[in-house]
Amino acid sequence: MSINNTSSNSGFVSLVGAGPGDPDLLTVKGLRVIQAADVVVYDRLVSEDILALADSSAEMIYVGKQLDFHCVPQDQINQILVQKAQEGKRVVRLKGGDSFIFGRGGEELEELAKFGIKYEVVPGITAAAGATAYAGIPLTHRDHAQSVQFITGHVQKDGREIEWASLAQSNNSLVFYMGLKQSGHICDKLITHGLSAQTPCAIIENGTRPEQRVLNGTLETLPELAKGAVSPALIVIGSVASLGERLGWFHQ
Ligand SMILES: C[S@@+](CC[C@H](N)C(=O)[O-])C[C@H]1O[C@@H](n2cnc3c(N)ncnc32)[C@H](O)[C@@H]1O
Repeated sequence: MSINNTSSNSGFVSLVGAGPGDPDLLTVKGLRVIQAADVVVYDRLVSEDILALADSSAEMIYVGKQLDFHCVPQDQINQILVQKAQEGKRVVRLKGGDSFIFGRGGEELEELAKFGIKYEVVPGITAAAGATAYAGIPLTHRDHAQSVQFITGHVQKDGREIEWASLAQSNNSLVFYMGLKQSGHICDKLITHGLSAQTPCAIIENGTRPEQRVLNGTLETLPELAKGAVSPALIVIGSVASLGERLGWFHQ
């Protein structure tokens, strides 16, 4: 693949968040740029209905990011974006949820900036917002939580540990992305650092999709609950998590 590292001329990249699953949660701006794209470079969690919005002449490139496995390595994804833009194409880089929340959107923009390629960012509804809305779990609530934290269950790039003490003592709502495999570790660390074992928890799998399922329990039952859950799933920990049992509304 040949990349000209001086600068690009006319190509343009739109980094678009497709939302968590329900295709109706795509933004109007996202819809417009997808319809106008020459090339769509998309990930695994983008729904078929959203891909179908692209023009039939658009080149569709699957780069299939998946937990623990990138079917196309990040370097190569960056190269595709740069090359297609340098060919003068209108490129849509389409990701699940929001590109800037655990989506490596920042890394891809850094690469585009390095090559002088023009871009825009079209925000999407991140899974924590979409899935909890459909599960009837308000992430903040004056009687329950004044703030919310989004945390990755993945080990950090540099091997750094999450700051468990501050999470356990914050009284926030905690939302773990990519946390299913780590649920035992999450549970142990939070309890060790002082969070009550009886703190309500919910696992939302396939949030906003027809097959959405919500599993309710407490921090100490979380590892057991997680064994019966499938990806993609979010773990919500905090007193708000129990509200979904009363306020949940999305039933197929
Ligand atoms: C690599 S992260 C991408 C997050 C995405 N950028 C966002 O803003 O939602 C993938 C993780 O997001 C969460 N996720 C994405 N879509 C989801 C859905 N529909 N329901 C529940 N969790 C979801 C899961 O924790 C999954 O492992």
